[in-house]
Amino acid sequence: MKEKKVAVITGGARGIGRAICLRLADDGYDIAFDYRSDDENAELTKKMCEQKGVKAIAVKGDVADPAHCKEFVNLSKEFGGGKIDVLINNAGITRDGLIGLMKDDDMDAVLNVNLKGAFYMMREVSRIMIKNRGGKIVNLSSVVGISGNAGQVNYAASKAAVIGMTKSLAKELSSRNINVNAVAPGFIETDMTEKLPPQVKESAVDSIALKRIGKAEEVAGAVSFLCSKDSEYITGQVICVDGGMVI
Ligand code: NAI
Repeated sequence: MKEKKVAVITGGARGIGRAICLRLADDGYDIAFDYRSDDENAELTKKMCEQKGVKAIAVKGDVADPAHCKEFVNLSKEFGGGKIDVLINNAGITRDGLIGLMKDDDMDAVLNVNLKGAFYMMREVSRIMIKNRGGKIVNLSSVVGISGNAGQVNYAASKAAVIGMTKSLAKELSSRNINVNAVAPGFIETDMTEKLPPQVKESAVDSIALKRIGKAEEVAGAVSFLCSKDSEYITGQVICVDGGMVI
């Protein structure tokens, strides 16, 4: 019988998170994902995974709440028969604005979800992976965490911090056979980027070497690689999936 593999993904209801759920389902993982509020889309992601012949659970909650992360991880562990093979910290938000107009809450909300949410999840999951002597963690950063972006001091700070956290945890968990890496997408077509004005999109495409916006599936491909046997000797790295936006 084939060994059961379990992947835990935050923010799987739509966009890049959904593409990751589907790609890891193709790779044979049972899928446990959480989402903030969109029940209909979460149900759809769950069904789409099940249609690929794997099991899936969807848990509603906020990764900025450590109690939710604890509960989500406990449920996922039970679902995985006592283990978790892969954790993908994908849930993320933006609250863009120029610094003079940015409210305390815009800073706090973005750091709480993008940075602290990933921290809470990694704290819970690493305990399980350490016991099982192995695992893969992939964090979604962003190219703006590397290059910066006007109007996104809060978001860029959170995504740069995710890279620091990824590298530190890669060092901390290396002796336990746990790889920790990050993927930094550039401009990807999802709900997050849909709300941007057309002129912003056009000038973004101009700055991309491959002259097109990326697809969620292209980010999911890099995540799949970082969860595979082919990346066993890669840890603490950041792979940009950005069509050459930042070279
Ligand atoms: P999206 O807005 O389309 O989807 C975000 C997902 O995260 C949704 O499923 C939502 O339910 C979930 N989520 C949001 N807040 C949550 C919370 N507090 N707790 C639990 N789940 C929560 O976003 P998209 O574009 O799919 O982005 C996914 C990740 O990729 C994010 O971390 C984002 O920062 C990153 N990214 C996206 C880029 C893009 O161009 N779309 C570029 C660079 C990075």
